[in-house]
Amino acid sequence: MRPDSSLILGIETSCDETAAAVVAGGRVIRSNVISSQVSAHQLFGGVVPEIASRQHVLAITNVTARALAAANAGWSDVGAIAVTRGPGLSGALLVGLNFAKGVALARGLPLLGVNHVEAHLYSVWLTVGNALPPPPPLPMVSLVASGGHTELVIIEEIGSHRRLGHTLDDAAGEAFDKVGRLLGLSYPGGPAIERATARCPDVQAVQLPRAWLSGTYDFSFSGLKTAVLHCVRRESAEGTADGLTEAQIAAIAAGFQESVVDVLSAKLARAVEDFGARSAAIVGGVSANRALRDKAEARLSVPLYVPGPNVSTDNAAMIAGAAYYRPEPLDYDADVAPSLSLASEDRASA
Ligand code: KG4
Ligand code: ZN
Repeated sequence: MRPDSSLILGIETSCDETAAAVVAGGRVIRSNVISSQVSAHQLFGGVVPEIASRQHVLAITNVTARALAAANAGWSDVGAIAVTRGPGLSGALLVGLNFAKGVALARGLPLLGVNHVEAHLYSVWLTVGNALPPPPPLPMVSLVASGGHTELVIIEEIGSHRRLGHTLDDAAGEAFDKVGRLLGLSYPGGPAIERATARCPDVQAVQLPRAWLSGTYDFSFSGLKTAVLHCVRRESAEGTADGLTEAQIAAIAAGFQESVVDVLSAKLARAVEDFGARSAAIVGGVSANRALRDKAEARLSVPLYVPGPNVSTDNAAMIAGAAYYRPEPLDYDADVAPSLSLASEDRASA
């Protein structure tokens, strides 16, 4: 049987998830297998690059076999292999890229490289099941908010985007993770902070600053993180989260989340108005945050798209999806690109 060129096997190993997925026509998820390493890194309160690489080596063959089986597909059905080239941890990226090269060579398949941040943008095009909803109307302003990136991007048409702004220091997810650690919560901090805020009866009780950086679409979260540190020192007899009650932790977590959500949603809504966008999106791990989705929806005058289940945090379905829309053939001597940025990939402004 001739391989279906629209059926792409995606491989993702840029950080701490080993993932493989099969996607048809850039949109329909046939399978989406994610092996999370969270438990291996939890003890250290963050991702340890060396551990990440080794875990990818251990998991990748099995994860890929499971993705093909779940899609009810064999190698002969696959039309291309797509793999994350960057940005990410170099050792972790190398595992995925070399695995993909080996498979592509052995099976005689085209090898496509994908920018991980760009793949997050295309995660809102993905669907499960046979009913294919209409694609989001363009232009779209998309907020990429993950552990490594916070960028505001305008997608004028499929395959053509422009970065409007970015974080000057910490990524939003990184701020959640660091503040989670300051508050003695479990890793990753984002979901832990969101759970903690649910125990806070008044989310306005602790007021923390917002870095508006007015006149730009840029973000900054390091001052907020320092404000949380001072707050913990002030309120805790021991100067650390150990001296805080559960109610105090919940109130500080809520104050922090309110500040992040306020700035992210306001800048997204302003960019939508300024550029006359017809839709908005929030993608990346932080898009799982309910308060962020609700606040953005309340402020927006256009429909808000968010990734479906299992495609907001790192996954390979978005890699296979992005490769369909922006196929970038790779040679067998292609290297990983740990610092690959969205701007340098911007073909619209090139
Ligand atoms: O996109 P992702 O899986 O990995 C990167 O490319 O970085 O994002 C992971 C980030 C972590 O920082 C995590 O704390 C954050 O997304 N995150 C959340 C939530 N779920 C995950 N942040 C806030 N609220 C959440 N519910
Ligand atoms: Zn990501």
